[in-house]
Amino acid sequence: MESPPRVCVTGGGSYIASWLVKLLLSRGYGVNTTVRNPCDPKNACLAQLEGAPENLRLFKADMLDYDTVVAAFAGCVGVFHVATPVPEQKMVDPQKEMMDPTVKGTVNVLKACSATNVKKLVLVSSAASLCFNPDWPEDKIKDESCWSDKEFCTENENWFSLAKTEAEEISLEYGQKNGLHVATFCPGLVFGPLLQHVALNTSSKVLLYIIRGGPDTMNNNFWPIVDVRDVADALFLIYNKAGPSERYICSLDQMDLKDLLRTLKSMYPNYSYADKMVDVGCKAAMTSDKLKNLGWRPMKLEEMLADSVESYEKAGLLQVSDGEPCRLPFFYRMPPVQE
Ligand SMILES: NC(=O)c1ccc[n+]([C@@H]2O[C@H](COP(=O)([O-])OP(=O)(O)OC[C@H]3O[C@@H](n4cnc5c(N)ncnc54)[C@H](OP(=O)(O)O)[C@@H]3O)[C@@H](O)[C@H]2O)c1
Repeated sequence: MESPPRVCVTGGGSYIASWLVKLLLSRGYGVNTTVRNPCDPKNACLAQLEGAPENLRLFKADMLDYDTVVAAFAGCVGVFHVATPVPEQKMVDPQKEMMDPTVKGTVNVLKACSATNVKKLVLVSSAASLCFNPDWPEDKIKDESCWSDKEFCTENENWFSLAKTEAEEISLEYGQKNGLHVATFCPGLVFGPLLQHVALNTSSKVLLYIIRGGPDTMNNNFWPIVDVRDVADALFLIYNKAGPSERYICSLDQMDLKDLLRTLKSMYPNYSYADKMVDVGCKAAMTSDKLKNLGWRPMKLEEMLADSVESYEKAGLLQVSDGEPCRLPFFYRMPPVQE
């Protein structure tokens, strides 16, 4: 009997990658996955996944250590590169904390793909690589032709967007020059249930903050949000159906923070909720039509929110304690509103 195709998912213990590993195993794929610390309790959920004992192999690898990346990719036909940091706090050394692991890490991934004869790479970029473009007309819906302006990101110290934009550009260019099939994926803010709650990722902390409330001010901007299970589905679809050098936006339709709060409050009236927000002019949405044309069918917002809240409740994350107030991850904070 032919053995199933083997692919590698980098950063298997991350919020998004753990759901992707689960999906790939359920579809019969052999999966190599990388973690930096196999003993980290947050990675324990991977071994519990259905199909893991037979088909999942864990590799200790750091994207900045080329040899460890090569070892994880050996024998794989495809790679999903997910592992880059999503900092929660203001960065002290953006080069070290964000730029190097994202950009140099991606260059190592690209070279390791070539060295191990990997045929296809799907790179997890971000909506942040297209959102920050002051020249894009405010009323024009953003599509895959829109790129964040790297100078603008630098001026505004938006290191996350700068790093994701640069890594994505380098990947598409590398694919074209070196005959590697590269497709990139730009999800919005990812919510949805957790596979583990030992260590919470930054986007889940944003939704928790919105529900629990706290001292920080948020922006009432367009929020491109999407469920983590729809993200895994989209990655699978792109891996199997997208052409080389293609880029895909992945988000639900237009939604601003007030809409999101209104929906949450109508479903769960008893939580405290974040109430400090400022209106920021730009409301241009983005479209996921290209991904939908590939066959992507996202779930309804209400289903995503219900499953997120159920998962947080089960994990005891919505219980209010007398300790430190819940804080909004730094990247999403606006200057405080005048009371
Ligand atoms: N969540 C979102 O809303 C969202 C939105 C758009 C795009 N994304 C992208 O999706 C990906 C995953 O996000 P997430 O929210 O799932 O993040 P997460 O749970 O915080 O995980 C980040 C992952 O990156 C790994 N990592 C960081 N630096 C690394 C390095 N030098 N070598 C190897 N691994 C490294 C971490 O490994 P350790 O566990 O060892 O620390 C961890 O597995 C990221 O590329 C992110 O930019 C996320």
